[in-house]
Amino acid sequence: MVNEFDLNHNTDRIKLKKSEVNPCIYLKKPSVYMTRYIPKAVEILSASCDLTVHKGRAFPSKKDIIKNVSNKDGLLCSLSDVIDNEVIVATKKLRVISSYSVGYDHIDIDTATRYGICVTYTPEVLTETTADLAFTLLLTTARRITEADVLVRSGQWRSGWKYDFMLGSDINGKTLGIIGLGRIGSAVAKRSNGFKMRVLYHDRNRLPIEKEDELAVEYRSLEDLLKESDFVSIHLPLNNDTFHLFNEQKLKLMKPTSYLINTARGSIIDEKALIRALKQKWIAGAGLDVFETEPISRNNLLLKMNNIVLAPHVGSSTTETREKMAEVAAMNLLNVLNGKKPLYEVKS
Ligand code: GLV
Repeated sequence: MVNEFDLNHNTDRIKLKKSEVNPCIYLKKPSVYMTRYIPKAVEILSASCDLTVHKGRAFPSKKDIIKNVSNKDGLLCSLSDVIDNEVIVATKKLRVISSYSVGYDHIDIDTATRYGICVTYTPEVLTETTADLAFTLLLTTARRITEADVLVRSGQWRSGWKYDFMLGSDINGKTLGIIGLGRIGSAVAKRSNGFKMRVLYHDRNRLPIEKEDELAVEYRSLEDLLKESDFVSIHLPLNNDTFHLFNEQKLKLMKPTSYLINTARGSIIDEKALIRALKQKWIAGAGLDVFETEPISRNNLLLKMNNIVLAPHVGSSTTETREKMAEVAAMNLLNVLNGKKPLYEVKS
């Protein structure tokens, strides 16, 4: 028996005439492959889908993904699954790729669009949580909290209070430069008001004056923002325009007393240039939640530096937010399979 989902996929694969398609009748449950066991999403999807869930803690290989998704109607994946041309062309009837993430640089959107596959994602529900993490990195980097914690635990805190002990940098009254004033960048700007910071921003599009006033932000060219800021926080998507945007030339524009915070994508920064910047003190430090290769390799020189704070890509990692992301990812997928608009669709 052919199900409705076989009929509505790419026109070149449609076996029956359009008049034979009734979008309201399901002859059998749609089939969905999930690359992770995400409890809330499994709970929602299992009620109406025939689910195949990747087992185990290791991520599925590309070969596994291709094998499992080739005959499925829906795919629920995460940002560590590369859904490229090779995966997409191997599908026979896939209608939706639902990513459990706000970023979608791991998906070949152009190919998906050419194949008539809807790509969905989970913005908004993780905005505040990710902004919290960006601000946490800013605070811990400037005040050297991870260094301080190690020092206390390892018994190296041998003398009492000293006037020049573990000096960090002030945050209050300093200038924060936000690159990419979308949802998360704006949420970071709001937090910085509480710290009495002056906020500069750079974005492809300048905001209307009223919006700038509301957020208390000032527009700058990227170069001016880098020269003027004490903290620079990156909130951009990764794409051809932003890959290695932070290269040696950009890092050298920053003040030697400034800090770079990245909770967006690792490859926006040329990591080798950043290592030189930290070693040679072009900048004072960095707070990083994302890396060019994840998980970070054991020989990555960033691990040897003490003027940085490192986190393992946990921007949205709270119980509350991850549950909301699971709901959104599952609803996005179901909506498309049911012929409705998803909550959040990636536009090509
Ligand atoms: C996290 O980086 C995400 O894209 O959700």
